[in-house]
Amino acid sequence: MNQNSLFTLACEAMQQSYSPYSNFPVGAAIRTNKGSVFSGCNVENAAYPEGTCAEAGAIAAMVLAGERNIKDIYVVGMGEQLVSPCGGCRQRIREFSNSDTRVHICGPEGVRKVLTINELLPLSFGPEHL
Ligand code: THU
Repeated sequence: MNQNSLFTLACEAMQQSYSPYSNFPVGAAIRTNKGSVFSGCNVENAAYPEGTCAEAGAIAAMVLAGERNIKDIYVVGMGEQLVSPCGGCRQRIREFSNSDTRVHICGPEGVRKVLTINELLPLSFGPEHL
């Protein structure tokens, strides 16, 4: 699956978002080191803190399928600003990343910025610290 298809998959996931409280739909799509793809959307809740991010949904689908290595993750949202993964999602991505992993931050028109997880979460704590 090429870059364009992953972006499209993230957009399709965004369309499934359940975000009636923030009205801020987000989609995420992962390609693993094996070439499999998984996607997720944000799912909010009337008990606001119980909502989950798009990245968390895509990571859960990846883990459920028995995979553990994110090669690329695309995150897409609407609006002018970069939909930069939240702090919690940076740590979630970090758990399944390495120095080759790329985080592609997208707007509705396409990719806006590509970052490593180390750029997003420098001096991070990870599984190898335990
Ligand atoms: N959101 C994500 O899904 N991913 C992010 O990285 C940033 C924020 C969601 C959470 C919430 O449903 C909405 O965007 C507004 O914060």
